[in-house]
Amino acid sequence: MKAIRIAMAGALTATALATFGASATATGPYPGPDRPQSIDQSLRDLGKRHDLRIGTAVDMSALANDATYRDMAGSEFSAVTAENVMKWEVLEPQRGTYDWTAADQLVAFARAHGQRVHGHTLLWHNQLPGWLTAGVADGSIDAEELRGLLRTHIIDVVSHFRGKIWHWDVVNEVIDDNAQLRDTIWLRQLGPGYIADAFRWAREADPRVKLYLNDYNIEGVNAKSDAYYDLVKRLRGDGVPVAGIGIQGHLGTQYGPPTNAPENFLRFDALGLETAVTEADVRSVMPIENPEISAQSHGFSLLLQACLITPRCVMFTVWGFTDRYQWVSGFFDGQGWAAPFDENFAPKPAYQQMRVDLALANGPRKRDR
Ligand code: XIL
Repeated sequence: MKAIRIAMAGALTATALATFGASATATGPYPGPDRPQSIDQSLRDLGKRHDLRIGTAVDMSALANDATYRDMAGSEFSAVTAENVMKWEVLEPQRGTYDWTAADQLVAFARAHGQRVHGHTLLWHNQLPGWLTAGVADGSIDAEELRGLLRTHIIDVVSHFRGKIWHWDVVNEVIDDNAQLRDTIWLRQLGPGYIADAFRWAREADPRVKLYLNDYNIEGVNAKSDAYYDLVKRLRGDGVPVAGIGIQGHLGTQYGPPTNAPENFLRFDALGLETAVTEADVRSVMPIENPEISAQSHGFSLLLQACLITPRCVMFTVWGFTDRYQWVSGFFDGQGWAAPFDENFAPKPAYQQMRVDLALANGPRKRDR
C-alpha cells in the first residue's frame, strides 16, 4: 500500500501541473482564493465551489435495507439518479397501470437531503415492459399504436414528476458502436424522427425541465461522439429542445483511457449545451493488481477533470458508489471493482483523487456564454 501511495503522489503532481499549470498567475500555481486547505470534506461539499453537483445512481433496495449505504448516499452526494426505478418496465409493468412507488421514494429521499434528481430514462431499447416488446414482436402493436404509446408514456412520466426533476435523459443510447442510429424497435417502427418527437413531447409536459441525450463510449473524441455532435447540432438547428448531453463514463482499465476527453466535452459546450457525466464507473478484469488500482483512479480523475474544465458541465455522477451494490460484476463476466468505494464502504485511491481534483481546480467557472 505504501508503494502505491508514493507512485500516486508522483502521478498526481504531474497531472495537476499538466491540467492547471496553464492558468497559473503571479499568486502561485493554483490560483483561487477560496481553494480549500483540506480535502477532508464530502464530494458534495467540495463540488459546491464549482457549482458542480456530485451524484450517484441509487439502488432502491440497498437504500431501504442498508443504513450505511443510506447515510453515505445522503451525505456524500448532492444529486441522485434512479439506477432502475424510473425505467419503463418498472413504471408501467402492466399496460395502463403505473407504479410510482419506488421512484417517488427516491424523489422524497432527494428532497430530504437537498439533492437534485437526474431523470433516467424516458426512452431506451432495454428494460422495456414485456407487454410492449411482446406486442411489437407478434405484430399486435403496430407502428401507429407504438408511436401513441411512446407519446403517452413520455407525457405521463414527465407530468408525474413535473417540477421535481432537474434533467431528463429523454433518449438513452440511440447511437450504436458503429456511430449509426441504433437498430431498435423505435428506429424500425417510427423512423429517425422519433428522437425529435420524444424531446417535443417531454417539453410539452414540462416547460422547464432540462432535456438530455445520454450514451456511453462518447467520453473522448471518436466516431461515436462525432455522430452525437452532428446529431445535436442538427436537432438544435431544427428547434428541438435539447439542453444537454449526458456522457455516461463507463470505463474499463483494460481499454486504456479515452482520447481527448476535455476537448470532447468542450466542443459540446461550444455548441451551447450543458454536459454531465451521468454514469461514471471504472471496472477491471479481476483479480485487480496495483496497476488497475492506479488506472481506476486515473479514469475517474480524467472524467472529473474534463467536467471541471468545461464551463457548463453541471453534474458528475457515479454509477453506484460502492462495490457492494454495483452492476458491473453481474453484467460483465469476470469484471468488477468499478466503484470509488469498495464492498466494505472503504474509500479507494480513486475517491481521494477526486477530492484532490475538486480541491485543486479553479472555481467558479464562467458560464456566461
Ligand atoms: C443498468 C443497471 O445498473 C442494472 O441494475 C440493470 O440491471 C441494467 O441497467 N447504461 C444505462 C443504465 O443507461 O441504465 C444501465 O444501468 C447501465 C448502462
